Amino acid sequence: MLPSLLFPLYSSSYLHQTSSDHILKDASPFPSDFLFGTASSAYQYEGAYLTDGKGLDNWDVFTHENPGKIADGNNGDVAVDQYHRFLEDIQSMKYLGVNSYRFSISWSRVLPKGRFGGVNHMGIKYYNNLIDALITNGIKPFVTLSHFDFPQIFENQFKSWLSPEMQNEFGYLADTCFKYFGDRVQHWITINEPNIQIGFGYISGMYPPSRCSMPYGHCTQGNSETEPFIVAHNMILAHAKAVQIYHTKYQKEQKGTIGIAVQTTWFEPISDSIADKKATERAQSFNFNWILDPIVYGKYPEEMVNILGSALPQFSSSEVKTLMNYKPDFLGINYYSSYFIQDCLITACTSGAGASKVEGYVLKLIQKGNVSIGEPTDINWLHNYPEGFRKMLNYLKDRYPNVPMFITENGLGDLQKPETTVKDLLHDTKRIRYVSGHLDALRSAMRDGANVKGYFVWSLLDNFEWSYGYTLRFGLFHVDFTTLKRTPKQSASWYKNFIEQHLNTGDLTFKR
Ligand code: NOJ
Repeated sequence: MLPSLLFPLYSSSYLHQTSSDHILKDASPFPSDFLFGTASSAYQYEGAYLTDGKGLDNWDVFTHENPGKIADGNNGDVAVDQYHRFLEDIQSMKYLGVNSYRFSISWSRVLPKGRFGGVNHMGIKYYNNLIDALITNGIKPFVTLSHFDFPQIFENQFKSWLSPEMQNEFGYLADTCFKYFGDRVQHWITINEPNIQIGFGYISGMYPPSRCSMPYGHCTQGNSETEPFIVAHNMILAHAKAVQIYHTKYQKEQKGTIGIAVQTTWFEPISDSIADKKATERAQSFNFNWILDPIVYGKYPEEMVNILGSALPQFSSSEVKTLMNYKPDFLGINYYSSYFIQDCLITACTSGAGASKVEGYVLKLIQKGNVSIGEPTDINWLHNYPEGFRKMLNYLKDRYPNVPMFITENGLGDLQKPETTVKDLLHDTKRIRYVSGHLDALRSAMRDGANVKGYFVWSLLDNFEWSYGYTLRFGLFHVDFTTLKRTPKQSASWYKNFIEQHLNTGDLTFKR
């Protein structure tokens, strides 16, 4: 993600101090079947962009045609070459002691032309090898069907997610993956972060297919006030179709589970006023309830219906039936940061992130006076505020009771600045503070009653971070992007110790 209309730059001073002693104070154990893992995605990791029959995907085309939209002008042609180095990467996972690995399927590697063409058996073979090697090493595959990338042909032929056709394509991808990999995969995620894909692809236009309208961004086509909601509608129904296929055709025999991963941000009212409190509810609705309410309750949040009116598509009665009959088995929660929220519906706001109709007339701020929402990091949209994570999990448990959750992403990025040395990057105490604080908050939330079944750090390795290219590093392992050599950072050894404590003793009190 990049600072944009959605995530503006603010100056900040940090006053909210978070736990910095690296000691997890809360000693209540995670359940013995809890998954500890790291997360990744195909475009950000695999490389091999035209190898063994893979077709061109939307990110291949976007990065090749618009190098100016990527901070370092780079692309995922090679990325971290996991396609050729997955065995080495599994050794890194073994070093950490994780019992699960989240990765995604490159749609254009298994179905280069979707339903317009055949299955690419070399692609199937790659994922079979990866899955088998993970399992042989005691690591459960946690597989995302679609993490931002899809065959470019869908964009050219029918405008991809703007068309209901994409629901059928997605169903076909899901069916293909369940058929070939489902005998060994117990955890499936349908779509990664629909809300972010939509925000950047169809509101600000910073991601493919670069569709937007003024004043949200500079694009040659698109409509930021209508298209996001059409796209979300198709994604929600595509998700439900995949769940339906899994539940009716595969689950009985394969005995796995299926969910979705949404980006969550915690929001706090900037004041005690009723207007700011109501604005905070709108911010939640326009951010993640937008996706989660339909898949759990079969309808959009009230706040969205009221503000958007006819711009919000309606579910037909048969679509509602499908949504209600085929609910997710779990929710995947990607959490990084929090914001203060100020009302812009009753009180006029000048401008800023979210102050528009498409985000519910709310202003997202990282400071209240000169108090920052959390410890600032290298990037303006990411503050270290573990308490927000705990509050978020409590909010989700109350709004969607009985739906288990996995934390499918959580982590910290370091910006590669001209003066940054490899030594600095390896000595990543800020990341340790971030992860340990969030694991601490996670345990508190679980004690509060949140049913969380796993936690994945984003990310195993430094990788291609979308608009930031290779300039923003989220890895527990440093990657030299010239030689592709992987080196564990201090956080890798911290996470290893943490997991060891849990797996060996069931006691999570972490001692340095
Ligand atoms: C969310 C996305 O799922 C992932 O692809 C991205 O790299 C991380 N957040 C960090 O921005």
